[in-house]
Amino acid sequence: EALDFNQLKEDKSLPKAKPFKIIKSYNAIDERVKISGWVHRLRNKKSLCFLVLRDGTGYLQCVLTGDCAKASANLTLESTVSLYGTIKKLPEGKSAPGGVELSVDYFTLIGLAPSGDESFTNKVQENADPSLLLDQRHLMLRGETLSAVMKVRASLLRSVRRFYDEEGITEVTPPCMVQTQVEGGSTLFKLDYYGEESFLTQSSQLYLETCLPSLGDVYAIQESFRAEKSHTRRHLSEYTHIEAELCFLTFDELLSHIEKLIVTAIHYVLEDPVAGPLIKQLNPDFKAPKSPFMRLEYKDAIKWLQEHGIKNEENEEFKFGDDIAEAAERKMTDTIGVPILLIKFPVEIKSFYMKKCIDDPRVTESVDVLMPTVGEITGGSMRIDDEEELMAGFKREGINPEPYYWFTDQRKYGTAPHGGYGIGTERILAWLCQRYTVRDCSLYPRFSGRCKP
Ligand code: 4AD
Repeated sequence: EALDFNQLKEDKSLPKAKPFKIIKSYNAIDERVKISGWVHRLRNKKSLCFLVLRDGTGYLQCVLTGDCAKASANLTLESTVSLYGTIKKLPEGKSAPGGVELSVDYFTLIGLAPSGDESFTNKVQENADPSLLLDQRHLMLRGETLSAVMKVRASLLRSVRRFYDEEGITEVTPPCMVQTQVEGGSTLFKLDYYGEESFLTQSSQLYLETCLPSLGDVYAIQESFRAEKSHTRRHLSEYTHIEAELCFLTFDELLSHIEKLIVTAIHYVLEDPVAGPLIKQLNPDFKAPKSPFMRLEYKDAIKWLQEHGIKNEENEEFKFGDDIAEAAERKMTDTIGVPILLIKFPVEIKSFYMKKCIDDPRVTESVDVLMPTVGEITGGSMRIDDEEELMAGFKREGINPEPYYWFTDQRKYGTAPHGGYGIGTERILAWLCQRYTVRDCSLYPRFSGRCKP
């Protein structure tokens, strides 16, 4: 016979329960606590109920007996409750999150989630069509995998900021609404800005470059937008772009800096008490990258592709000047199996602002960082610092330089050698957390055909 929730009574002779978040409760052995959260798992036997409570900080195994067990017969998954009871250390040989169990003596119901057709499990069936699951993203995020990825994401961004801070690099927040392009006109999202044509930013790079004379080395962690028409597992329409711009350095120093950032940030994430174990769970075979990374010149990559019989987009043998598109790049990276700094791409397949190599003007001081299973996670380069040469770059790409006066002025009012890069947060996460697609690494992914919820 189920008991109505309201009929439960707290025994006032017990010690007063102290409110705790789950993660802190793991250390509150033998204390009487009050813990609020969502019913994550529920197993009801007649006079005994096992429940896993979730509050975003962790999971807690709870045991309900007596009247509490009876009242729990009406509980449903995802209902919110406050549980009162005593934290018990689990005996040797048994396992549960934090190595503890909550012995519940009283609980209150805060919000009852639906049962039947509307039940949580009906909404987020594991084998459902991915697009239906994306409609239920707000509910899917409650799952163990997605929430783990989001925690790793938070830890990664924190680690990247910590690295920049230690390197004395200043954070800035450039605008997202702009009137210039950085990475080609075809992927611009147009925006009606009080009647003027504007775009959502593709990259904060040009703005970061303008900060060098006033702030020195700078970085931004900002959304970038790309109207990518193709559906691939690594393209989003909106992604979180980690970008930095550094001055008075050489190409080689830029490469070393990128390496150091990746190695250090990953190290910080792995030693994070929350994120470290989550990576073990999501990506058990993950090996922390070590510097120096393999450096591979574009021309040697072309040779490698030829030797391994991998074909270009036209299904022909690769030749110098070809873009190494996603499929071929992935095959090469997965075969080589270690992080690669792919450097010195030809002028024609790279952006207008990239500096040419002094010893070979066919190629640029450019770099893509390639990681096994994902491919490119970072793109960067040294920038043209000569005004005339930059103007020639605009001309080559058919871009009117006039709206870029604030960017080209940097070459006029005290030019300086400088370079920078952008990292796709969702891409580095897909590698770190072993996700098939970057969509799993974004809170509410945007791609063509998807702008909700
Ligand atoms: O190589 P990209 O286009 O380089 C730039 O935007 C430079 N202006 C950055 C800079 O030097 N400050 O993009 C940089 C990175 C890529 O390596 C990739 O990781 C990510 O941004 N990226 C995307 N991630 C998800 N979805 C997309 N559509 C992406 N496009 C680029």
